[in-house]
Amino acid sequence: MSDLTTLLEVGGPVAALGGGAAYARAKHPAAYWSTVGLPVSTVRLLSTYGSVMEACGLTVAPSRLRVLAARAMTRREVRPVPPRRGLLRPTTTGLRIRLRLAPGQEPADFAASTERLRHAWGVHAVYVTPVKPGVIELRLVGYDVLRRVRMPRKIADGFLQVPVALREDATPFVRDYRTIPHQLTLGATLSGKSMYLRHLIAGLAPQPVALVGIDCKRGVELAPFAPRLSALATDPEQAAELLPVLVKEMEDRYDLIKARQGIAPGTPDEEITSDIWGLPEHKRPVPVVLFVDEVAELFLVATKKDEERRDEMVTQLIRLAQLGRAAGIYLEVCGQRFGAELGKGATMLRAQLTGRVCHRVNDEASAKMALGDIAPEAVMAACSIAPERPGLAVAGDTSGGWSRIRTPYLSLTDAAETCHAWAGLVPDLPALEPFRPAVPVRPAEHAAPVVLPHPVTD
Ligand SMILES: Nc1ncnc2c1ncn2[C@@H]1O[C@H](COP(=O)(O)OP(=O)(O)O)[C@@H](O)[C@H]1O
Ligand SMILES: [Mg+2]
Repeated sequence: MSDLTTLLEVGGPVAALGGGAAYARAKHPAAYWSTVGLPVSTVRLLSTYGSVMEACGLTVAPSRLRVLAARAMTRREVRPVPPRRGLLRPTTTGLRIRLRLAPGQEPADFAASTERLRHAWGVHAVYVTPVKPGVIELRLVGYDVLRRVRMPRKIADGFLQVPVALREDATPFVRDYRTIPHQLTLGATLSGKSMYLRHLIAGLAPQPVALVGIDCKRGVELAPFAPRLSALATDPEQAAELLPVLVKEMEDRYDLIKARQGIAPGTPDEEITSDIWGLPEHKRPVPVVLFVDEVAELFLVATKKDEERRDEMVTQLIRLAQLGRAAGIYLEVCGQRFGAELGKGATMLRAQLTGRVCHRVNDEASAKMALGDIAPEAVMAACSIAPERPGLAVAGDTSGGWSRIRTPYLSLTDAAETCHAWAGLVPDLPALEPFRPAVPVRPAEHAAPVVLPHPVTD
Protein backbone atom coordinates (compact mmCIF):
# COMPACT_ATOMS: atom_id res chain seq x y z
CA MET A 1 0.00 0.00 0.00
CA SER A 2 2.76 2.46 1.02
CA ASP A 3 4.59 1.59 -2.23
CA LEU A 4 1.54 2.55 -4.15
CA THR A 5 1.23 5.89 -2.33
CA THR A 6 4.90 6.64 -2.92
CA LEU A 7 4.46 5.81 -6.57
CA LEU A 8 1.47 8.09 -6.76
CA GLU A 9 3.23 10.86 -4.85
CA VAL A 10 6.31 10.78 -7.03
CA GLY A 11 4.83 9.56 -10.28
CA GLY A 12 1.94 12.05 -10.31
CA PRO A 13 4.03 15.21 -10.36
CA VAL A 14 6.58 13.66 -12.74
CA ALA A 15 3.84 12.68 -15.18
CA ALA A 16 2.28 16.14 -14.83
CA LEU A 17 5.65 17.77 -15.50
CA GLY A 18 6.28 15.54 -18.50
CA GLY A 19 2.81 16.23 -19.88
CA GLY A 20 3.23 19.95 -19.28
CA ALA A 21 6.59 19.95 -21.02
CA ALA A 22 5.22 18.07 -24.03
CA TYR A 23 2.28 20.50 -24.23
CA ALA A 24 4.59 23.52 -23.98
CA ARG A 25 6.86 22.07 -26.62
CA ALA A 26 3.99 21.70 -29.08
CA LYS A 27 2.10 24.91 -28.28
CA HIS A 28 4.71 27.35 -27.03
CA PRO A 29 7.99 26.23 -28.55
CA ALA A 30 9.75 29.52 -27.77
CA ALA A 31 8.90 29.29 -24.05
CA TYR A 32 9.83 25.59 -24.05
CA TRP A 33 13.18 26.36 -25.60
CA SER A 34 14.07 29.02 -23.04
CA THR A 35 13.12 26.89 -20.05
CA VAL A 36 13.87 23.28 -21.00
CA GLY A 37 15.44 22.99 -24.45
CA LEU A 38 18.26 25.43 -23.91
CA PRO A 39 19.69 23.94 -20.69
CA VAL A 40 19.33 20.38 -22.00
CA SER A 41 21.03 21.16 -25.31
CA THR A 42 23.78 23.13 -23.59
CA VAL A 43 24.63 20.24 -21.30
CA ARG A 44 24.49 17.84 -24.23
CA LEU A 45 26.73 19.97 -26.38
CA LEU A 46 29.32 20.61 -23.68
CA SER A 47 29.48 17.02 -22.50
CA THR A 48 29.63 15.38 -25.92
CA TYR A 49 31.48 18.00 -27.95
CA GLY A 50 34.71 16.04 -28.46
CA SER A 51 33.12 12.68 -29.17
CA VAL A 52 30.51 14.13 -31.58
CA MET A 53 33.17 15.99 -33.53
CA GLU A 54 35.19 12.81 -33.73
CA ALA A 55 32.20 10.74 -34.86
CA CYS A 56 31.45 13.32 -37.59
CA GLY A 57 35.04 13.24 -38.83
CA LEU A 58 35.63 16.86 -37.88
CA THR A 59 38.71 16.26 -35.75
CA VAL A 60 42.35 16.42 -36.79
CA ALA A 61 45.37 14.41 -35.70
CA PRO A 62 47.09 15.95 -32.64
CA SER A 63 50.29 17.88 -33.16
CA ARG A 64 53.57 16.13 -32.42
CA LEU A 65 54.19 18.44 -29.48
CA ARG A 66 50.87 17.53 -27.95
CA VAL A 67 51.57 13.81 -28.46
CA LEU A 68 54.95 14.09 -26.74
CA ALA A 69 53.54 16.13 -23.88
CA ALA A 70 50.65 13.74 -23.38
CA ARG A 71 52.94 10.71 -23.40
CA ALA A 72 55.28 12.25 -20.87
CA MET A 73 52.52 13.40 -18.53
CA THR A 74 49.84 10.74 -18.63
CA ARG A 75 51.04 7.78 -20.70
CA ARG A 76 47.57 7.58 -22.13
CA GLU A 77 46.76 7.35 -25.82
CA VAL A 78 46.25 10.77 -27.39
CA ARG A 79 42.89 11.37 -29.04
CA PRO A 80 42.31 13.39 -32.21
CA VAL A 81 41.58 17.06 -31.44
CA PRO A 82 38.28 18.76 -32.25
CA PRO A 83 38.24 22.41 -33.42
CA ARG A 84 38.75 24.87 -30.57
CA ARG A 85 35.42 26.36 -29.54
CA GLY A 86 34.47 29.74 -28.23
CA LEU A 87 31.85 30.65 -25.68
CA LEU A 88 28.31 29.35 -26.04
CA ARG A 89 25.93 32.20 -26.73
CA PRO A 90 22.29 31.40 -26.02
CA THR A 91 19.58 33.24 -27.96
CA THR A 92 15.78 33.20 -27.74
CA THR A 93 15.61 30.74 -30.62
CA GLY A 94 18.76 28.70 -30.27
CA LEU A 95 22.45 28.73 -29.51
CA ARG A 96 25.48 30.14 -31.21
CA ILE A 97 29.03 28.97 -30.93
CA ARG A 98 32.19 29.96 -32.76
CA LEU A 99 34.77 27.41 -33.81
CA ARG A 100 38.34 27.92 -34.91
CA LEU A 101 39.06 25.62 -37.85
CA ALA A 102 42.06 23.35 -37.59
CA PRO A 103 44.56 23.47 -40.48
CA GLY A 104 43.14 21.54 -43.43
CA GLN A 105 39.48 22.12 -42.53
CA GLU A 106 37.02 24.30 -44.41
CA PRO A 107 33.47 25.51 -43.64
CA ALA A 108 32.05 23.08 -46.21
CA ASP A 109 33.21 20.14 -44.03
CA PHE A 110 30.96 21.41 -41.25
CA ALA A 111 28.12 22.29 -43.61
CA ALA A 112 28.14 18.66 -44.80
CA SER A 113 27.75 17.42 -41.22
CA THR A 114 24.99 19.73 -40.00
CA GLU A 115 22.37 16.98 -40.14
CA ARG A 116 24.53 14.71 -37.97
CA LEU A 117 25.25 17.49 -35.50
CA ARG A 118 21.57 18.35 -35.17
CA HIS A 119 20.67 14.78 -34.27
CA ALA A 120 23.57 14.46 -31.88
CA TRP A 121 22.60 17.59 -29.94
CA GLY A 122 18.84 17.23 -30.26
CA VAL A 123 18.09 20.58 -31.91
CA HIS A 124 15.84 21.46 -34.84
CA ALA A 125 18.58 22.51 -37.24
CA VAL A 126 22.22 23.55 -37.41
CA TYR A 127 23.59 26.18 -39.81
CA VAL A 128 27.16 27.13 -40.54
CA THR A 129 28.27 30.65 -41.37
CA PRO A 130 31.86 31.68 -42.02
CA VAL A 131 32.84 34.63 -39.81
CA LYS A 132 36.36 35.31 -41.06
CA PRO A 133 39.11 33.12 -42.45
CA GLY A 134 39.66 30.27 -40.01
CA VAL A 135 36.57 30.96 -37.89
CA ILE A 136 33.03 29.71 -38.39
CA GLU A 137 29.88 30.12 -36.39
CA LEU A 138 27.53 27.21 -35.73
CA ARG A 139 23.96 28.41 -35.31
CA LEU A 140 21.81 25.87 -33.54
CA VAL A 141 18.09 26.52 -33.91
CA GLY A 142 16.03 25.00 -31.13
CA TYR A 143 12.65 24.68 -32.82
CA ASP A 144 10.89 25.26 -36.13
CA VAL A 145 10.84 29.07 -36.19
CA LEU A 146 8.85 29.18 -39.44
CA ARG A 147 5.81 27.43 -37.97
CA ARG A 148 4.59 30.54 -36.21
CA VAL A 149 6.74 33.39 -37.35
CA ARG A 150 7.74 35.98 -34.78
CA MET A 151 10.17 38.60 -35.94
CA PRO A 152 13.09 39.36 -33.59
CA ARG A 153 12.41 42.44 -31.50
CA LYS A 154 15.64 44.22 -32.24
CA ILE A 155 16.24 44.62 -35.96
CA ALA A 156 18.56 47.22 -37.39
CA ASP A 157 16.36 48.68 -40.12
CA GLY A 158 17.23 51.77 -42.06
CA PHE A 159 15.94 53.93 -44.86
CA LEU A 160 14.55 51.85 -47.74
CA GLN A 161 15.06 48.64 -45.76
CA VAL A 162 12.15 46.51 -44.65
CA PRO A 163 12.56 43.39 -42.49
CA VAL A 164 9.87 41.47 -44.31
CA ALA A 165 10.28 37.84 -43.31
CA LEU A 166 12.18 35.42 -41.10
CA ARG A 167 14.81 33.03 -42.42
CA GLU A 168 14.84 29.43 -41.23
CA ASP A 169 17.98 30.14 -39.20
CA ALA A 170 15.96 32.74 -37.24
CA THR A 171 17.68 35.77 -38.75
CA PRO A 172 15.50 38.46 -40.35
CA PHE A 173 15.26 38.68 -44.14
CA VAL A 174 15.55 42.35 -45.01
CA ARG A 175 14.38 43.76 -48.32
CA ASP A 176 16.93 46.47 -48.99
CA TYR A 177 16.10 48.60 -52.03
CA ARG A 178 19.48 50.30 -52.10
CA THR A 179 21.35 47.00 -52.64
CA ILE A 180 18.69 45.09 -54.63
CA PRO A 181 16.67 47.70 -56.51
CA HIS A 182 14.19 45.45 -58.28
CA GLN A 183 12.63 42.17 -57.26
CA LEU A 184 10.45 39.47 -58.72
CA THR A 185 8.14 37.49 -56.44
CA LEU A 186 6.55 34.40 -57.95
CA GLY A 187 4.06 31.92 -56.55
CA ALA A 188 0.86 30.05 -57.29
CA THR A 189 -2.41 31.57 -56.23
CA LEU A 190 -2.88 31.54 -52.43
CA SER A 191 0.82 31.06 -51.84
CA GLY A 192 1.33 34.32 -49.94
CA LYS A 193 2.54 36.82 -52.55
CA SER A 194 0.10 39.53 -51.59
CA MET A 195 1.01 39.06 -47.93
CA TYR A 196 4.61 39.70 -48.88
CA LEU A 197 3.61 42.92 -50.68
CA ARG A 198 1.47 43.92 -47.71
CA HIS A 199 4.50 43.72 -45.41
CA LEU A 200 6.58 45.78 -47.77
CA ILE A 201 3.94 48.49 -48.05
CA ALA A 202 3.35 48.57 -44.30
CA GLY A 203 7.11 48.68 -43.76
CA LEU A 204 7.69 51.51 -46.22
CA ALA A 205 4.65 53.53 -45.14
CA PRO A 206 6.44 55.28 -42.25
CA GLN A 207 9.39 56.22 -44.49
CA PRO A 208 9.64 59.24 -46.81
CA VAL A 209 9.01 57.23 -49.97
CA ALA A 210 6.40 57.49 -52.72
CA LEU A 211 4.42 54.26 -53.10
CA VAL A 212 2.83 53.53 -56.46
CA GLY A 213 0.64 50.52 -57.16
CA ILE A 214 -0.49 48.67 -60.27
CA ASP A 215 -3.03 46.04 -59.32
CA CYS A 216 -4.97 44.78 -62.29
CA LYS A 217 -7.20 42.65 -60.06
CA ARG A 218 -9.41 45.77 -59.93
CA GLY A 219 -7.38 46.96 -56.97
CA VAL A 220 -8.62 44.42 -54.47
CA GLU A 221 -5.16 43.91 -53.00
CA LEU A 222 -3.76 47.44 -53.08
CA ALA A 223 -6.82 49.67 -52.79
CA PRO A 224 -6.98 49.28 -48.97
CA PHE A 225 -3.63 51.06 -48.84
CA ALA A 226 -4.94 54.01 -50.87
CA PRO A 227 -4.39 56.66 -48.15
CA ARG A 228 -0.62 56.16 -48.38
CA LEU A 229 -0.37 55.53 -52.15
CA SER A 230 0.76 58.32 -54.45
CA ALA A 231 -0.79 56.62 -57.47
CA LEU A 232 -2.83 53.50 -58.14
CA ALA A 233 -3.79 51.86 -61.43
CA THR A 234 -6.44 49.18 -61.19
CA ASP A 235 -6.70 48.05 -64.81
CA PRO A 236 -4.38 47.85 -67.83
CA GLU A 237 -5.80 51.07 -69.33
CA GLN A 238 -4.87 53.07 -66.25
CA ALA A 239 -1.50 51.33 -66.09
CA ALA A 240 -0.85 52.33 -69.68
CA GLU A 241 -1.37 55.97 -68.66
CA LEU A 242 0.63 55.73 -65.45
CA LEU A 243 3.78 54.05 -66.80
CA PRO A 244 4.74 56.83 -69.27
CA VAL A 245 4.38 59.35 -66.44
CA LEU A 246 6.81 57.33 -64.34
CA VAL A 247 9.25 57.08 -67.25
CA LYS A 248 8.99 60.86 -67.71
CA GLU A 249 9.64 61.36 -63.99
CA MET A 250 12.72 59.16 -64.33
CA GLU A 251 13.99 61.17 -67.27
CA ASP A 252 13.47 64.42 -65.35
CA ARG A 253 15.50 63.02 -62.51
CA TYR A 254 18.31 62.13 -64.90
CA ASP A 255 18.23 65.73 -66.13
CA LEU A 256 18.51 66.91 -62.54
CA ILE A 257 21.55 64.70 -61.96
CA LYS A 258 23.08 65.91 -65.20
CA ALA A 259 22.52 69.53 -64.27
CA ARG A 260 24.28 68.89 -60.99
CA GLN A 261 27.24 67.29 -62.73
CA GLY A 262 27.68 70.28 -64.96
CA ILE A 263 27.58 72.85 -62.12
CA ALA A 264 31.13 74.11 -62.37
CA PRO A 265 34.25 72.77 -63.94
CA GLY A 266 36.14 72.75 -60.64
CA THR A 267 33.61 70.71 -58.62
CA PRO A 268 35.43 68.20 -56.38
CA ASP A 269 35.10 64.54 -57.36
CA GLU A 270 32.96 63.50 -54.43
CA GLU A 271 30.33 66.07 -55.36
CA ILE A 272 29.91 64.72 -58.88
CA THR A 273 27.22 62.12 -58.74
CA SER A 274 25.65 59.60 -61.05
CA ASP A 275 22.57 58.93 -58.96
CA ILE A 276 20.10 60.84 -56.80
CA TRP A 277 21.88 59.89 -53.58
CA GLY A 278 24.75 62.21 -54.41
CA LEU A 279 22.42 65.22 -54.73
CA PRO A 280 22.18 67.62 -51.79
CA GLU A 281 19.30 66.67 -49.52
CA HIS A 282 17.03 69.60 -50.34
CA LYS A 283 17.29 68.83 -54.07
CA ARG A 284 17.05 65.05 -53.84
CA PRO A 285 13.78 63.69 -55.21
CA VAL A 286 11.94 61.14 -53.07
CA PRO A 287 12.45 57.50 -53.99
CA VAL A 288 9.51 55.81 -55.70
CA VAL A 289 8.63 52.14 -55.20
CA LEU A 290 6.35 50.68 -57.85
CA PHE A 291 4.39 47.61 -56.78
CA VAL A 292 2.92 45.46 -59.53
CA ASP A 293 0.59 42.69 -58.33
CA GLU A 294 -0.30 39.96 -60.88
CA VAL A 295 2.02 41.19 -63.60
CA ALA A 296 0.62 38.73 -66.16
CA GLU A 297 -2.58 40.79 -66.29
CA LEU A 298 -0.56 43.55 -67.91
CA PHE A 299 0.72 41.21 -70.57
CA LEU A 300 -2.48 39.44 -71.54
CA VAL A 301 -4.15 40.81 -74.66
CA ALA A 302 -7.41 40.07 -76.38
CA THR A 303 -7.27 42.25 -79.47
CA LYS A 304 -4.75 43.58 -81.94
CA LYS A 305 -5.10 47.08 -80.50
CA ASP A 306 -4.35 45.80 -77.00
CA GLU A 307 -1.19 44.27 -78.33
CA GLU A 308 0.32 47.65 -79.19
CA ARG A 309 -0.51 48.96 -75.77
CA ARG A 310 1.01 45.86 -74.18
CA ASP A 311 4.26 46.24 -76.10
CA GLU A 312 4.48 49.86 -75.02
CA MET A 313 3.91 49.00 -71.38
CA VAL A 314 6.50 46.23 -71.43
CA THR A 315 9.05 48.56 -72.99
CA GLN A 316 8.33 51.16 -70.33
CA LEU A 317 8.68 48.61 -67.54
CA ILE A 318 11.98 47.43 -69.00
CA ARG A 319 13.22 51.02 -69.16
CA LEU A 320 12.22 51.62 -65.56
CA ALA A 321 14.02 48.44 -64.54
CA GLN A 322 17.12 49.30 -66.54
CA LEU A 323 17.51 52.92 -65.55
CA GLY A 324 15.35 53.33 -62.47
CA ARG A 325 17.91 52.62 -59.78
CA ALA A 326 19.96 55.79 -60.27
CA ALA A 327 16.76 57.84 -60.33
CA GLY A 328 15.52 56.20 -57.13
CA ILE A 329 12.72 54.26 -58.81
CA TYR A 330 12.38 50.67 -57.68
CA LEU A 331 10.22 47.82 -58.96
CA GLU A 332 8.53 45.12 -56.93
CA VAL A 333 6.86 42.71 -59.32
CA CYS A 334 4.56 39.85 -58.29
CA GLY A 335 3.11 37.16 -60.49
CA GLN A 336 2.16 33.53 -60.83
CA ARG A 337 4.42 32.80 -63.76
CA PHE A 338 6.90 34.90 -65.65
CA GLY A 339 8.08 33.11 -68.75
CA ALA A 340 8.57 33.72 -72.42
CA GLU A 341 4.96 32.70 -73.08
CA LEU A 342 3.86 36.09 -71.72
CA GLY A 343 5.11 37.60 -74.92
CA LYS A 344 7.77 39.87 -76.28
CA GLY A 345 9.98 41.46 -73.67
CA ALA A 346 8.93 39.27 -70.75
CA THR A 347 12.25 37.46 -70.36
CA MET A 348 14.15 40.69 -70.85
CA LEU A 349 12.20 42.32 -68.04
CA ARG A 350 12.74 39.27 -65.85
CA ALA A 351 16.49 39.47 -66.36
CA GLN A 352 16.45 43.00 -64.92
CA LEU A 353 14.83 41.94 -61.67
CA THR A 354 17.74 41.02 -59.42
CA GLY A 355 16.03 39.89 -56.25
CA ARG A 356 14.09 36.63 -56.46
CA VAL A 357 11.55 35.19 -54.08
CA CYS A 358 9.62 32.10 -55.02
CA HIS A 359 6.58 30.99 -53.03
CA ARG A 360 4.85 27.65 -53.54
CA VAL A 361 4.48 26.86 -57.22
CA ASN A 362 2.50 24.25 -59.09
CA ASP A 363 5.23 23.09 -61.42
CA GLU A 364 8.97 23.04 -61.65
CA ALA A 365 9.00 25.32 -64.69
CA SER A 366 7.56 28.20 -62.66
CA ALA A 367 10.17 27.74 -59.94
CA LYS A 368 12.87 27.71 -62.60
CA MET A 369 11.63 31.06 -63.89
CA ALA A 370 12.40 32.58 -60.50
CA LEU A 371 15.34 30.60 -59.20
CA GLY A 372 16.74 28.68 -62.17
CA ASP A 373 19.66 31.06 -62.57
CA ILE A 374 20.47 30.94 -58.87
CA ALA A 375 20.80 27.30 -57.81
CA PRO A 376 19.21 23.98 -58.81
CA GLU A 377 18.70 23.08 -55.12
CA ALA A 378 16.73 26.29 -54.64
CA VAL A 379 14.33 25.16 -57.38
CA MET A 380 13.89 21.82 -55.62
CA ALA A 381 13.26 23.56 -52.31
CA ALA A 382 10.61 25.81 -53.87
CA CYS A 383 8.85 22.82 -55.41
CA SER A 384 8.59 21.09 -52.04
CA ILE A 385 6.74 23.89 -50.20
CA ALA A 386 3.52 22.55 -48.69
CA PRO A 387 0.22 24.36 -49.35
CA GLU A 388 -0.50 24.31 -45.58
CA ARG A 389 2.20 26.88 -45.07
CA PRO A 390 1.28 29.96 -47.07
CA GLY A 391 3.92 32.65 -46.93
CA LEU A 392 6.79 30.17 -46.98
CA ALA A 393 9.16 30.98 -49.84
CA VAL A 394 12.65 30.46 -51.13
CA ALA A 395 14.66 33.65 -51.47
CA GLY A 396 17.72 33.75 -53.63
CA ASP A 397 20.39 36.30 -53.09
CA THR A 398 22.87 37.71 -55.52
CA SER A 399 25.78 35.77 -54.03
CA GLY A 400 24.25 32.54 -55.34
CA GLY A 401 23.06 31.48 -51.91
CA TRP A 402 19.44 30.95 -51.00
CA SER A 403 17.35 30.42 -47.90
CA ARG A 404 13.85 29.51 -46.85
CA ILE A 405 11.90 32.46 -45.50
CA ARG A 406 8.39 33.05 -44.20
CA THR A 407 6.50 36.25 -43.64
CA PRO A 408 4.70 36.73 -40.33
CA TYR A 409 0.93 37.02 -40.52
CA LEU A 410 -0.29 40.59 -40.98
CA SER A 411 -3.98 41.21 -41.39
CA LEU A 412 -5.24 43.47 -44.15
CA THR A 413 -6.92 45.64 -41.52
CA ASP A 414 -3.67 46.21 -39.63
CA ALA A 415 -1.74 47.01 -42.80
CA ALA A 416 -4.47 49.38 -43.97
CA GLU A 417 -4.47 51.00 -40.52
CA THR A 418 -0.72 51.62 -40.79
CA CYS A 419 -1.21 53.23 -44.21
CA HIS A 420 -3.99 55.39 -42.82
CA ALA A 421 -1.82 56.47 -39.89
CA TRP A 422 1.01 57.55 -42.21
CA ALA A 423 -1.19 59.12 -44.86
CA GLY A 424 0.42 62.48 -44.08
CA LEU A 425 3.73 61.24 -45.46
CA VAL A 426 2.52 60.99 -49.06
CA PRO A 427 5.20 63.04 -50.81
CA ASP A 428 4.45 65.92 -53.11
CA LEU A 429 4.87 64.61 -56.68
CA PRO A 430 2.80 66.78 -59.03
CA ALA A 431 3.23 64.37 -61.96
CA LEU A 432 1.48 61.59 -60.07
CA GLU A 433 -1.31 63.78 -58.68
CA PRO A 434 -3.89 62.75 -61.35
CA PHE A 435 -3.40 59.09 -60.40
CA ARG A 436 -3.85 59.59 -56.67
CA PRO A 437 -6.52 57.09 -55.56
CA ALA A 438 -9.65 58.42 -53.96
CA VAL A 439 -9.58 57.75 -50.25
CA PRO A 440 -12.90 56.63 -48.85
CA VAL A 441 -14.06 58.90 -46.05
CA ARG A 442 -14.21 56.98 -42.83
CA PRO A 443 -17.25 57.24 -40.66
CA ALA A 444 -16.31 58.86 -37.37
CA GLU A 445 -15.87 56.22 -34.72
CA HIS A 446 -18.03 57.84 -32.02
CA ALA A 447 -20.37 60.24 -33.70
CA ALA A 448 -20.47 62.79 -30.88
CA PRO A 449 -22.53 65.97 -31.35
CA VAL A 450 -20.36 69.05 -31.70
CA VAL A 451 -22.66 71.25 -29.59
CA LEU A 452 -23.97 69.90 -26.36
CA PRO A 453 -27.76 69.73 -26.49
CA HIS A 454 -29.48 72.11 -24.10
CA PRO A 455 -32.91 71.28 -22.85
CA VAL A 456 -35.48 73.84 -24.05
CA THR A 457 -36.85 74.51 -20.65
CA ASP A 458 -34.36 75.15 -17.96
N1 LIG B 1 2.92 34.17 -43.65
C1 LIG B 1 1.64 33.79 -43.56
N2 LIG B 1 1.16 33.25 -42.44
C2 LIG B 1 -0.11 32.85 -42.36
N3 LIG B 1 -1.00 32.94 -43.36
C3 LIG B 1 -0.60 33.47 -44.51
C4 LIG B 1 0.74 33.93 -44.68
N4 LIG B 1 0.86 34.41 -45.94
C5 LIG B 1 -0.34 34.28 -46.51
N5 LIG B 1 -1.22 33.72 -45.66
C6 LIG B 1 -2.62 33.42 -45.96
O1 LIG B 1 -2.69 32.72 -47.17
C7 LIG B 1 -3.74 33.17 -47.98
C8 LIG B 1 -3.23 33.56 -49.34
O2 LIG B 1 -2.34 34.64 -49.24
P1 LIG B 1 -2.16 35.71 -50.40
O3 LIG B 1 -1.04 36.57 -49.95
O4 LIG B 1 -3.44 36.38 -50.71
O5 LIG B 1 -1.72 34.77 -51.60
P2 LIG B 1 -1.55 35.13 -53.16
O6 LIG B 1 -1.47 36.61 -53.29
O7 LIG B 1 -0.28 34.43 -53.51
O8 LIG B 1 -2.71 34.52 -53.85
C9 LIG B 1 -4.37 34.34 -47.24
O9 LIG B 1 -5.55 33.91 -46.64
C10 LIG B 1 -3.38 34.71 -46.18
O10 LIG B 1 -4.00 35.16 -45.01
MG1 LIG C 1 -2.48 37.93 -54.57
